[in-house]
Amino acid sequence: MSERIISPVAIPDESEDLTIRPTRLDEFIGQVQVKDSLKIAIEAARKRKEPLDHILFSGPPGLGKTTLAHIIAREMGVDIRATTGPVLEKPGDIAALLTPLKEGDILFIDEIHRINAVVEEVLYPAMEDFFIDVMIGEGPSARSIKLDLAHFTLIGATTKQGLLGAPFRDRFGIISRLDLYSPDELVRIVTRSASILKIPVTLDGAEEIARRSRGTPRIVNRLLRRVRDFATVRGDGTITREIAGQALALMQIDELGLDELDRRILAVIATDFDGGPVGVKTIAISVGEEVRTIEEVYEPYLIQIGFIKRTPQGREVTPAAKRHLKSPQKTLV
Ligand SMILES: Nc1ncnc2c1ncn2[C@@H]1O[C@H](COP(=O)(O)OP(=O)(O)O)[C@@H](O)[C@H]1O
Ligand SMILES: [Mg+2]
Repeated sequence: MSERIISPVAIPDESEDLTIRPTRLDEFIGQVQVKDSLKIAIEAARKRKEPLDHILFSGPPGLGKTTLAHIIAREMGVDIRATTGPVLEKPGDIAALLTPLKEGDILFIDEIHRINAVVEEVLYPAMEDFFIDVMIGEGPSARSIKLDLAHFTLIGATTKQGLLGAPFRDRFGIISRLDLYSPDELVRIVTRSASILKIPVTLDGAEEIARRSRGTPRIVNRLLRRVRDFATVRGDGTITREIAGQALALMQIDELGLDELDRRILAVIATDFDGGPVGVKTIAISVGEEVRTIEEVYEPYLIQIGFIKRTPQGREVTPAAKRHLKSPQKTLV
């Protein structure tokens, strides 16, 4: 399979996404604690007419980190520039982004755990004291000049908070962790998206999609669109529980939202390694995926539903996972 339908990572052509992406905090469903603390921080900053503290969002892909960064800019009435960690190669790259920022503007750095050490060094004084040192010239005649910056807000997003060093993490005033969404919240998200996209969906149809979306809004929206196509071709356009179930079975997504690769991961541990414990590297090699992808993309959900346990010795599958593997997969209807 070249591209996972249930991958929480964005795929290029999701153009409708911009129409369904919440633009205000009140439209952002779930993550109540994160939202509450942001509301207070935003209101306080606005009252004091001060820029927001630097903010770090962590959590698995597809849960709304980028969305929140844009919402914050909108709520604060400031401009936002977005970049991503791996493209910032040298100090000049980050300097070029920082210098044009005006008071209160936001610099959003996605995958911030992937910026390199030299760029991180430049960020420290920028975040703390709002200046950067830029080197002019080369070799023995090189000298550094100090450039003052406006009081900007840095918003960082990371799928792995643990990969950020403590000195870096400590420079963020607000650190928020996003968790996988509850089935109820996902139903609200499907319903909201369906109404924006004018897709008729019954409540049990929405529940069926939500249940199989691995706690992830990005997947919920993607499945909604795929099921809509199926409903148009095979039904009268309305997404019912039956239509949703058939469409998802056709996509090889099982009752719990697991796809072929999830089942292979579970099977490797259960069968090849007798239930575990087995190291994540070994699992990655067995299924032909990168360790990072297994840890950040697949495991969070398998752990949440209680199918995989992380132990110091490695990963183990639970009896529930073994039962699920044995239960007959619903075949195409
Ligand atoms: N709380 C939410 N309520 C409604 N839709 C959401 C929510 N969080 C995310 N989404 C939807 O999911 C998509 C993916 O979110 P995104 O912010 O890109 O995730 P991340 O940056 O964490 O990978 C968004 O485009 C948006 O449509
Ligand atoms: Mg993102």
